[in-house]
Amino acid sequence: MPAEPLSFSEGDQLRSWLSRTPPQIPPKWLYDQRGSELYEHITRLPEYYPTRTERGILTEHAAAIADLTQAKTVIELGAGSPEKSSILLRELGMRDSGHEFIPVDISTTYLEHIESSMAKTLPHVTVRPIQADFADRMPFTQGEPARLVLFLGGTLGNLDRLERAEFLARVCAAIEPGDFFLLGVDLIKSRDRLIAAYYDRSGVTEKFIRNIVNVARKRWGATVFDEHFDYHASWVDEESRVEMSLVANQPTVMTIPSLDTTLSFGVGDRVLVETSHKFTRESITQEVLGSSLSVARAFSDVKEDFLVMLFTKE
Ligand code: AVJ
Repeated sequence: MPAEPLSFSEGDQLRSWLSRTPPQIPPKWLYDQRGSELYEHITRLPEYYPTRTERGILTEHAAAIADLTQAKTVIELGAGSPEKSSILLRELGMRDSGHEFIPVDISTTYLEHIESSMAKTLPHVTVRPIQADFADRMPFTQGEPARLVLFLGGTLGNLDRLERAEFLARVCAAIEPGDFFLLGVDLIKSRDRLIAAYYDRSGVTEKFIRNIVNVARKRWGATVFDEHFDYHASWVDEESRVEMSLVANQPTVMTIPSLDTTLSFGVGDRVLVETSHKFTRESITQEVLGSSLSVARAFSDVKEDFLVMLFTKE
């Protein structure tokens, strides 16, 4: 039985993702306690370049970002780790005090961790954590001064094109003219390097993707057999994305009684567990065009592996 029953909207969303061809998983379910720990480990793998590249870009350009934004309120959507936001907060805080940091995340464990670590490293910054799924709503309050919204790590790549458009429109609606939005996206590069980043030698990514089986059992009350699936990561050029799948190695079923769902798999059928879209400077600029966000600056590393874009609302 599920530890805690799914809410109506969670159940609805899950059922609809699982009914896609191939069945898909809403990405937020990958980041339970163990999933978050495994992802943290991924960010330190030699093959996984995005995290350290983005950190390098932020370190190099923090002063420029602080100068351009003059932000007093920093809101981080999906507040993964306190490290990257600290780079910016430290730079902003050098100008004067009275800064507020609002990490928004679904995981309360994470938020508590951020709050305590910030209290130690940046004691003059007020931290006001908000527990929310930003996929559902933008939990901004009115009237916070000089906002800078962070959406880092390439998390946008978890969403497909339509969801990205909706997400960008919601960010845009939630901020005011003069506020800023800082977006980190991973860039298209050689297939070999992309695959290596999601097929690491130590198998941590496989563990991270397989953790969905535990989540399915514990949180959805599913019956599913881990050993009936193999991990597979592939680069799909037409979709501009890495697909991380669990592929059936024998005929098997997954049942979720509480959702009235039974999925049948033949050999080679798969669950698409996570997608990671990659961009070019042009493609992401194109996607943002049409919202009332405009590009203030774009920052990259020498190899052009990763891109950090600063937008302002017109
Ligand atoms: C957290 C979505 C940015 O797509 O690179 C890493 C997740 N999954 N390895 C990514 C992930 C497997 C990561 N994002």
